[in-house]
Amino acid sequence: MPYSTGDSKITDATIAEMREIAARYPVARSALLPMLHLVQSVEGRVTPEGIEACADVLDLTGAEVSAVATFYTMYKRRPVGDYHVGVCTNTLCAVMGGDLIFDRLKQHLDVGNDETTEDGKITLEHLECNAACDYAPVMMVNWEFFDDMTPESATQLVDDLRDGTEVKSPRGATICTWREAERVLAGYPDGRADEGPTGGKATLAGLRLARERGWTAPGGSSNAETPKED
Ligand code: FES
Repeated sequence: MPYSTGDSKITDATIAEMREIAARYPVARSALLPMLHLVQSVEGRVTPEGIEACADVLDLTGAEVSAVATFYTMYKRRPVGDYHVGVCTNTLCAVMGGDLIFDRLKQHLDVGNDETTEDGKITLEHLECNAACDYAPVMMVNWEFFDDMTPESATQLVDDLRDGTEVKSPRGATICTWREAERVLAGYPDGRADEGPTGGKATLAGLRLARERGWTAPGGSSNAETPKED
Protein backbone atom coordinates (compact mmCIF):
# COMPACT_ATOMS: atom_id res chain seq x y z
CA MET A 1 0.00 0.00 0.00
CA PRO A 2 1.16 3.60 -0.52
CA TYR A 3 2.81 5.19 2.49
CA SER A 4 0.17 7.95 2.63
CA THR A 5 -3.42 7.08 1.74
CA GLY A 6 -4.65 10.66 2.00
CA ASP A 7 -7.50 9.71 4.35
CA SER A 8 -5.92 10.69 7.64
CA LYS A 9 -8.09 10.41 10.79
CA ILE A 10 -6.07 13.10 12.58
CA THR A 11 -8.63 15.71 13.71
CA ASP A 12 -8.63 18.91 15.73
CA ALA A 13 -9.46 16.76 18.76
CA THR A 14 -6.32 14.69 18.11
CA ILE A 15 -4.21 17.85 17.89
CA ALA A 16 -5.76 19.09 21.16
CA GLU A 17 -4.79 15.81 22.84
CA MET A 18 -1.27 16.10 21.42
CA ARG A 19 -0.98 19.55 23.01
CA GLU A 20 -2.34 18.11 26.27
CA ILE A 21 0.32 15.37 26.24
CA ALA A 22 3.08 17.88 25.42
CA ALA A 23 2.01 20.05 28.36
CA ARG A 24 2.72 17.17 30.74
CA TYR A 25 6.48 17.47 30.18
CA PRO A 26 8.91 20.21 31.31
CA VAL A 27 10.46 20.00 27.83
CA ALA A 28 7.69 19.52 25.27
CA ARG A 29 9.70 17.37 22.85
CA SER A 30 9.89 14.70 25.58
CA ALA A 31 6.24 14.04 24.69
CA LEU A 32 7.06 12.68 21.25
CA LEU A 33 6.95 8.98 22.18
CA PRO A 34 3.44 9.04 23.72
CA MET A 35 2.28 11.34 20.92
CA LEU A 36 3.34 8.74 18.35
CA HIS A 37 1.35 6.14 20.29
CA LEU A 38 -1.62 8.51 20.07
CA VAL A 39 -1.12 8.69 16.30
CA GLN A 40 -1.17 4.89 16.15
CA SER A 41 -4.36 4.75 18.23
CA VAL A 42 -6.06 7.06 15.72
CA GLU A 43 -4.49 5.96 12.44
CA GLY A 44 -3.61 2.32 13.12
CA ARG A 45 0.01 3.11 12.25
CA VAL A 46 2.39 6.07 12.06
CA THR A 47 1.30 8.00 8.99
CA PRO A 48 3.01 10.97 7.28
CA GLU A 49 0.09 13.11 8.48
CA GLY A 50 0.69 11.93 12.05
CA ILE A 51 4.39 12.72 11.76
CA GLU A 52 3.64 16.23 10.50
CA ALA A 53 1.10 16.81 13.28
CA CYS A 54 3.65 15.79 15.94
CA ALA A 55 6.26 18.02 14.31
CA ASP A 56 3.91 21.03 14.25
CA VAL A 57 2.89 20.65 17.89
CA LEU A 58 6.47 20.17 19.12
CA ASP A 59 8.13 22.63 16.74
CA LEU A 60 10.32 19.87 15.30
CA THR A 61 11.01 18.97 11.69
CA GLY A 62 9.24 16.07 10.06
CA ALA A 63 12.64 14.45 9.59
CA GLU A 64 13.32 14.61 13.33
CA VAL A 65 9.99 12.96 14.16
CA SER A 66 10.45 10.41 11.42
CA ALA A 67 13.89 9.51 12.75
CA VAL A 68 12.34 8.61 16.11
CA ALA A 69 9.38 6.78 14.59
CA THR A 70 11.65 4.58 12.48
CA PHE A 71 14.09 3.82 15.33
CA TYR A 72 11.73 2.10 17.79
CA THR A 73 10.09 -1.17 16.82
CA MET A 74 6.82 -0.38 18.63
CA TYR A 75 6.06 2.24 15.93
CA LYS A 76 4.55 0.69 12.83
CA ARG A 77 4.66 2.05 9.29
CA ARG A 78 2.23 -0.54 7.96
CA PRO A 79 -1.35 -0.89 9.27
CA VAL A 80 -1.68 -3.16 12.29
CA GLY A 81 -4.68 -5.46 12.72
CA ASP A 82 -7.07 -5.51 15.65
CA TYR A 83 -4.51 -7.54 17.61
CA HIS A 84 -0.74 -7.38 17.42
CA VAL A 85 0.55 -10.89 18.19
CA GLY A 86 4.24 -11.18 18.97
CA VAL A 87 6.19 -14.41 19.36
CA CYS A 88 9.56 -14.25 21.09
CA THR A 89 12.13 -16.06 18.96
CA ASN A 90 15.19 -14.94 20.87
CA THR A 91 17.60 -17.57 22.14
CA LEU A 92 15.89 -19.04 25.20
CA CYS A 93 12.36 -18.83 23.83
CA ALA A 94 13.56 -20.23 20.50
CA VAL A 95 15.06 -23.36 22.04
CA MET A 96 12.04 -23.77 24.32
CA GLY A 97 9.68 -23.77 21.34
CA GLY A 98 9.35 -20.17 20.15
CA ASP A 99 10.53 -21.00 16.64
CA LEU A 100 8.00 -23.85 16.43
CA ILE A 101 5.22 -21.54 17.64
CA PHE A 102 6.11 -18.85 15.13
CA ASP A 103 6.21 -21.36 12.26
CA ARG A 104 2.88 -22.87 13.35
CA LEU A 105 1.20 -19.45 13.54
CA LYS A 106 2.55 -18.38 10.14
CA GLN A 107 1.02 -21.54 8.68
CA HIS A 108 -2.21 -21.32 10.67
CA LEU A 109 -2.80 -17.63 9.86
CA ASP A 110 -1.34 -17.82 6.34
CA VAL A 111 0.85 -14.76 6.89
CA GLY A 112 4.54 -14.02 7.08
CA ASN A 113 6.44 -11.94 9.59
CA ASP A 114 4.97 -8.45 10.09
CA GLU A 115 1.93 -9.29 7.98
CA THR A 116 -1.78 -9.05 8.77
CA THR A 117 -4.46 -11.68 8.19
CA GLU A 118 -6.93 -11.03 5.38
CA ASP A 119 -9.74 -10.32 7.87
CA GLY A 120 -7.61 -7.55 9.43
CA LYS A 121 -7.70 -9.20 12.86
CA ILE A 122 -4.14 -10.37 13.53
CA THR A 123 -0.74 -8.90 12.77
CA LEU A 124 1.99 -11.45 13.45
CA GLU A 125 5.54 -10.45 14.31
CA HIS A 126 8.53 -12.20 15.77
CA LEU A 127 9.93 -10.32 18.75
CA GLU A 128 13.32 -10.26 20.38
CA CYS A 129 13.73 -10.98 24.10
CA ASN A 130 10.71 -9.70 26.05
CA ALA A 131 12.59 -9.89 29.37
CA ALA A 132 10.29 -12.70 30.41
CA CYS A 133 12.69 -15.59 29.82
CA ASP A 134 11.58 -17.34 33.04
CA TYR A 135 8.27 -18.06 31.24
CA ALA A 136 9.78 -19.16 27.92
CA PRO A 137 8.47 -19.49 25.35
CA VAL A 138 6.45 -16.29 25.67
CA MET A 139 4.10 -14.45 23.37
CA MET A 140 2.60 -10.99 23.63
CA VAL A 141 -0.75 -9.70 22.46
CA ASN A 142 -0.81 -5.91 22.31
CA TRP A 143 2.21 -6.03 24.68
CA GLU A 144 0.47 -8.19 27.32
CA PHE A 145 2.32 -11.40 28.25
CA PHE A 146 1.28 -14.98 27.52
CA ASP A 147 3.54 -17.43 29.31
CA ASP A 148 4.80 -20.98 28.77
CA MET A 149 3.17 -21.22 25.35
CA THR A 150 2.95 -24.22 23.03
CA PRO A 151 2.02 -24.38 19.32
CA GLU A 152 -1.40 -25.65 20.43
CA SER A 153 -2.07 -22.92 23.02
CA ALA A 154 -0.79 -20.32 20.53
CA THR A 155 -3.22 -21.38 17.80
CA GLN A 156 -6.06 -21.48 20.35
CA LEU A 157 -5.10 -17.95 21.45
CA VAL A 158 -5.25 -16.47 17.95
CA ASP A 159 -8.48 -18.36 17.19
CA ASP A 160 -10.06 -16.88 20.35
CA LEU A 161 -8.93 -13.39 19.35
CA ARG A 162 -10.37 -13.78 15.85
CA ASP A 163 -13.66 -15.20 17.21
CA GLY A 164 -14.10 -12.32 19.63
CA THR A 165 -13.80 -14.59 22.69
CA GLU A 166 -12.70 -12.62 25.76
CA VAL A 167 -8.99 -13.23 26.36
CA LYS A 168 -7.09 -12.43 29.55
CA SER A 169 -3.33 -12.23 29.93
CA PRO A 170 -2.09 -14.52 32.73
CA ARG A 171 -0.07 -11.59 34.08
CA GLY A 172 -2.05 -8.60 32.91
CA ALA A 173 -5.31 -7.15 31.78
CA THR A 174 -8.16 -8.38 29.61
CA ILE A 175 -7.03 -7.97 26.02
CA CYS A 176 -8.40 -4.90 24.25
CA THR A 177 -7.73 -3.91 20.65
CA TRP A 178 -4.31 -2.73 19.56
CA ARG A 179 -5.62 0.79 18.98
CA GLU A 180 -7.12 0.88 22.48
CA ALA A 181 -3.81 -0.33 23.92
CA GLU A 182 -1.98 2.38 21.96
CA ARG A 183 -4.22 5.02 23.53
CA VAL A 184 -3.23 3.75 26.99
CA LEU A 185 0.45 4.02 25.98
CA ALA A 186 -0.25 7.59 24.89
CA GLY A 187 -1.16 8.34 28.50
CA TYR A 188 -4.91 7.86 28.60
CA PRO A 189 -5.47 5.01 31.12
CA ASP A 190 -8.40 2.63 30.63
CA GLY A 191 -8.56 1.77 34.34
CA ARG A 192 -7.35 -1.79 33.84
CA ALA A 193 -3.67 -1.41 34.73
CA ASP A 194 -4.12 -3.34 37.98
CA GLU A 195 -5.99 -6.30 36.47
CA GLY A 196 -4.20 -9.60 36.96
CA PRO A 197 -1.17 -10.51 39.07
CA THR A 198 1.96 -8.38 38.86
CA GLY A 199 4.37 -11.23 39.54
CA GLY A 200 4.10 -14.92 38.67
CA LYS A 201 5.62 -17.88 40.52
CA ALA A 202 8.78 -18.06 38.39
CA THR A 203 9.52 -14.38 38.94
CA LEU A 204 9.05 -14.68 42.69
CA ALA A 205 10.98 -17.95 43.16
CA GLY A 206 14.16 -16.13 44.26
CA LEU A 207 12.26 -14.03 46.79
CA ARG A 208 10.56 -17.14 48.22
CA LEU A 209 13.90 -18.95 48.60
CA ALA A 210 15.52 -15.91 50.23
CA ARG A 211 12.73 -15.75 52.78
CA GLU A 212 12.82 -19.47 53.50
CA ARG A 213 16.58 -19.39 54.05
CA GLY A 214 16.85 -16.00 55.74
CA TRP A 215 19.00 -14.49 52.99
CA THR A 216 19.25 -10.72 52.76
CA ALA A 217 20.99 -8.38 50.35
CA PRO A 218 23.89 -6.40 51.82
CA GLY A 219 22.28 -3.52 53.68
CA GLY A 220 18.83 -4.76 52.60
CA SER A 221 15.99 -6.81 54.00
CA SER A 222 14.17 -9.96 52.86
CA ASN A 223 10.90 -8.38 54.02
CA ALA A 224 10.39 -6.28 50.90
CA GLU A 225 6.81 -5.83 49.80
CA THR A 226 5.61 -8.90 47.89
CA PRO A 227 4.12 -8.32 44.43
CA LYS A 228 0.53 -9.48 43.92
CA GLU A 229 0.30 -13.19 42.89
CA ASP A 230 -2.45 -15.36 41.47
S1 FES B 1 14.27 -14.99 25.18
FE1 FES B 1 12.10 -14.78 25.06
S2 FES B 1 11.63 -13.48 26.75
FE2 FES B 1 13.79 -13.63 26.80
